[in-house]
Order: sequence, then C-alpha cells, then structure tokens
Amino acid sequence: MRTVDLIHRKREGEELSAEEIQFLVDGYTRGEIPDYQISAFLMAVFFSGMSDREVGALTEQLIGSGSLVDLSSVEGVKVDKHSTGGVGDKTSLIASPIAAAAGVIVPSIAGRGLGHTGGTLDKLESIPGFRTDHTIDEFKAQLSSIGIAFIGQTAEVAPADSKLYALRDATATVDSIPLIASSIMSKKLAEGMDALVLDVKVGSGAFMKKQVDARRLAQMMVAIGRRVDKRVQALITDMSQPLGYAIGNALEVMEVSQTLQNGGPADLTRLSLELAARMIYLGKVTKTLDEARELAQAKLLDGSGYRKFHEVIAAQGGNPQVLDHFELLPNATAVHEISTSRGGYISAIDAELIGQASSMIGAGRNTKEDSIDPAVGVILEVKVGQKIEPGSILCRLYHTTEENLEEAAELVEDAFRISQQAVEERDLILEVVS
Ligand code: URA
Repeated sequence: MRTVDLIHRKREGEELSAEEIQFLVDGYTRGEIPDYQISAFLMAVFFSGMSDREVGALTEQLIGSGSLVDLSSVEGVKVDKHSTGGVGDKTSLIASPIAAAAGVIVPSIAGRGLGHTGGTLDKLESIPGFRTDHTIDEFKAQLSSIGIAFIGQTAEVAPADSKLYALRDATATVDSIPLIASSIMSKKLAEGMDALVLDVKVGSGAFMKKQVDARRLAQMMVAIGRRVDKRVQALITDMSQPLGYAIGNALEVMEVSQTLQNGGPADLTRLSLELAARMIYLGKVTKTLDEARELAQAKLLDGSGYRKFHEVIAAQGGNPQVLDHFELLPNATAVHEISTSRGGYISAIDAELIGQASSMIGAGRNTKEDSIDPAVGVILEVKVGQKIEPGSILCRLYHTTEENLEEAAELVEDAFRISQQAVEERDLILEVVS
C-alpha cells in the first residue's frame, strides 16, 4: 500500500477501506508517514468527504491509538453531554449536575475554549482552587461517590486525534464534517460512557453556519455511536446569538449559579433542561422522555441540581461559596458600556463577533498555548426580539486592562442589528437527530 495512491483515490472521491484508513492513521501516529502527505489527505477529505463507513473506520482508528477509560467499576448508567462549541454556552455546568441529581452518572471529559468559542474546563478553572487534572482513578472514585466529575483530556485518550487536530489547525481543514465527527466521537467513545447527548450548534457563533451542515454532522455522530451500540441523540440548536447573557469564564459561572437557582435566562434554562432530560432518559432513569422532562424540572426547582454542582466544586478542590458570593470569583476591575442612540427592536446579535470581542479582551485564546483572564468578558443587556429605547445599553465589557479594548468595543457595536419592525424570536431547539 502506498500513501500517495490513497491520497489520489480520496482526491478522486473514492471510498477507502478500513484497512487503508488504518494504514494512514497508524503510519502517521508512528511517524512513518510525513505531515505533508497527511495534510494532502486531509485536504482531499475536506473536498471529497467521507462515507459513514469511512468515518466509522477513522473513529475506530483514533480510539485505538490510545487507551479506553474503563468505567465498569462505577455502578450506574454513564451518560455524557457534548456541545460542538458556542458563545456563552455554559449548559454543561447546568444540565450535567441536574442529570446527576436525578441519578445519572456523568463522566465528563471536557475541553478548553479556542478562538471565539468557550470551553467548560476554562469556566470551571475560574473557580479558585478547582482542579481538572484528576487521575483516572480519582475520576472513578468521584463518580462512585457523587455521580459526576469534570476532568480534562488525558494524554492516553485518542492521542492520534490530538496530532491530527494540530495538523488540521495548520492546514485549514478543521471545519470538515467527517473530520469533526470522528474527532469528537473518538474522544467521547474512549471515555467509557454508555450514552451521549450532543448539542450541535448552528449559526454565526458555531462551527456549522448552515442547518444542513449541522444536520449532516449530527447524523454522522449519531451513526458512529450506533455502530458501537451506544445510545446517542443530538439536538441542533441555534447559535446565531449568544446563549444567556454572560460570555467569559467567571461571568458564566455566576450565570450558572443563578440558573441552577431557577433565576437564569429563559433560553439557557430551557436548553439546559432539555439536555438534562435527554441525559436522564438515555440514562434509563425514566421510561419516557416526558417523565424525564418532569424530573429535570423538579431537580432544578427543588435545588438538588444546584446542590450537586456545589458538591462537584467541593470534591474538585474549589470553594463552593463562590456560588453565593460572586466576590470570591475573579472579578474585572473596569466596565465599558456600549449603548445605542437608536430605538427599535434588536433583530440580531452576532455571536461570533461577541465571542471574538470577549476573547480579544482576554477571555479566550487564539492558540492552545495562550493564557486567559478568567475575570473578563461581556454581559449582554438585551436579546434578539427585545424592544429598546434610544440611549439603551446593549452590553457591558468587563475588563482588567485597556489592551484591545477599543477594537473589541468596535466589534461588539457591529454585532447588534436594530430594526424598526418587531422581530420574531428564532426557535432555540431546531431539530432532534436520533
Ligand atoms: N471539537 C473537536 O474535538 N474536534 C473537532 O474536530 C472540532 C471540534
């Protein structure tokens, strides 16, 4: 078998066999196939796509490049939740504790933010003392004791994916649907879960800008799960405006606390409850999805989701008092208000621009190596559909330095669109793929 022939066949749109995909992944992982050939192969995939069979084979090879997390010693059905990434998306910190409070085991191996999108680990690490570097034994012990744990990616899980992702990042091949599907699913399947709820974001703040692409990504990930007998459901949800009002790590933890005490934004609460309900249903705690919805709602209203999050923070070395005393979280030192001279209705809030602005003042990173400022970010004062008067404040930038502030403020100003006609709100949950 010659690498050049496989690149040529993929370039011509042919389907490769599982053995041929194994040859490429093995050869690359062992350093026998050079970056330039795998780069060409990735670009061929970008343009020619992959069949479900090829994506399944690629996922298996990525999983096989590392070790599987064996959670068989932890009793209960293990269900994780994964979002393809968005702006202000803190649903993992709300849905997962609610599902755990209902009896689901939630083994969460989470990621960091990159570019304009945020990451669960960064949000959690804004809580002073919070550790995400548990060993696998500590992870299992915490799952057995409180039913939920959040840790970072370990080097043993799908190492070929990390190597390939770095190459994709440098060759403009990240946003290929089969490559994203296999990358996400290899890590999720290696972490030992029984079922998975996916939140596939679509809109300006998401990887997928078009619903048809989000649907294809969701279908591919559900099919990968099905091939290995895992229950997987995907929601396709709107990311054309940020979720909730807060964007930025500690600011989002504050909003999580309010939401878990049933005082959060309506969109964030609705989506978190639906994700939690699907985790509960796939976790076989209830017989029907409607019962799961009722249980999720009950666990929010009786405060047990909030108490579960409290427990997680304490178990992972953080101070749970932060949930009631926001002054214990990192706080920005200055605030810059953005207002408008026009009245009307908010017709759009571009999530990507808001995410970029937030990242620019320190909340996010451009490369994996950048450090972030947990205190900073953006708080929206309005949402799409809202009526505003001339002089209304649209949002506030919370910052700790003046660096990049002016540029970020310009981006944010461009993000808001105001119309003279009333605007219909877009549905938040657009489709379910199962
Ligand atoms: N997240 C991943 O883990 N992989 C991708 O390819 C894209 C998003």
